[in-house]
Amino acid sequence: MGIVAGVVTESARGERRVAMVPSALAVFGKTGIQILMEPGAGTAAGFPDADYTEKGVRLARSRAEVFAEANVILQVRSLGANPETGAEDLSLIRPGQVVIGFGEPLTAFDAARSLAARRASFLAMELMPRITRAQSMDALSSMATIAGYKAVLIAADSLNRMFPMLMTAAGTLAPARVLVIGAGVAGLQAIATARRLGAVVSGYDIRDVVKEQIESLGARFVVLDVKADAAQDKGGYAKAMSEDFYRRQREAMAAVLAQNNVVITTAAVPGRKAPILITREMVARMTPGSAIVDIAAERGGNCELTRPGEVVEANGVRIFGPVNLPSAVPYHASQMYAKNIATFLKYLVNKEGNLVLHRDDEIVKETLVTHEGEVVHPRVRELLGLPELQANMPQAVTQEK
Ligand code: NAI
Repeated sequence: MGIVAGVVTESARGERRVAMVPSALAVFGKTGIQILMEPGAGTAAGFPDADYTEKGVRLARSRAEVFAEANVILQVRSLGANPETGAEDLSLIRPGQVVIGFGEPLTAFDAARSLAARRASFLAMELMPRITRAQSMDALSSMATIAGYKAVLIAADSLNRMFPMLMTAAGTLAPARVLVIGAGVAGLQAIATARRLGAVVSGYDIRDVVKEQIESLGARFVVLDVKADAAQDKGGYAKAMSEDFYRRQREAMAAVLAQNNVVITTAAVPGRKAPILITREMVARMTPGSAIVDIAAERGGNCELTRPGEVVEANGVRIFGPVNLPSAVPYHASQMYAKNIATFLKYLVNKEGNLVLHRDDEIVKETLVTHEGEVVHPRVRELLGLPELQANMPQAVTQEK
């Protein structure tokens, strides 16, 4: 017998992803990890039960049975990332159970209290450090890849013109001009996708280091006349800038925006509200028929007019605030997520097949939110107004085989 990892149907409204797919089971190799799954958990993502059972996955009779038997629960949206129905699972969680999933610990931090009260060890996928060793476990990056791709399709579908340049007997059609603001994972994928559709693409970011990456995708790097010192932290993420910087940035950006038919915004600073880069006035200067796809919508949006989950029209410009784009591409989103979470779980299991949480390991330290009845993550504790923890916390937990 090895560790039993439970996979349940995602209960958040509109969520079509699943935390494990048949192809990702290969990651477990000889670890002895077994999967117990709620029937139908993969159906909405395009993975029927038979594809799992063929690979040795056991089907439970119910969701409750998965929680009752599994040492570890693998989810896409755990409590926190599932405010409407996530709490229904709370009473099923057993003390000592390890839960791995997205949980928005830096914004929905109250969920950490509830998980700690159940004595669950919760590991938040969004806290995965962006270090080389953890690259294959970085689910935020994989989901951002999907979001960047899909954002371009939304824009292309809504635009009043085609993306590619066409020379036809009926004349020449100019290509669409696409500007991508924020060239992180989502932005670079948006640039690549817009290029594949034949648009003329430019990209902008406060981090100069992305210039080469933007250019290597065949896009132009936009230089604004605003200085950004030390725009990047040691984790490679953007730092929050001053309000004065954002104001100067908006002024310089207005002219660039007006030259584009599509603007995709992805500018994010982890754990904070997204900066407003496009104001109402800047939208008014854009050509009617243009589209803005603001994938930072869930974090408050990069455009002043964005409403999460809605399409707003202002001066003939349509502003999309899509939420949960990865769920709109559930097959591949689940495939990537499952690979990330399976790699993470395997990382936590030692040679003897026990799950060990080494509290001094960087990946565990960064992702572990609750443990043995306490909220242990320093940033989450701070957000909850809890005092710093003493250093005498238990260092590891070992699940019996
Ligand atoms: P990332 O951290 O890799 O990239 C964000 C980029 O924005 C960085 O390159 C950063 O330098 C840049 N940036 C920050 N402030 C800026 C500013 N003032 N001006 C220009 N650039 C600026 O993040 P990633 O993984 O690409 O995600 C991007 C966004 O996509 C996030 O807001 C994330 O929440 C969102 N997202 C949305 C989804 C949806 O369904 N709508 C799904 C997945 C991600």
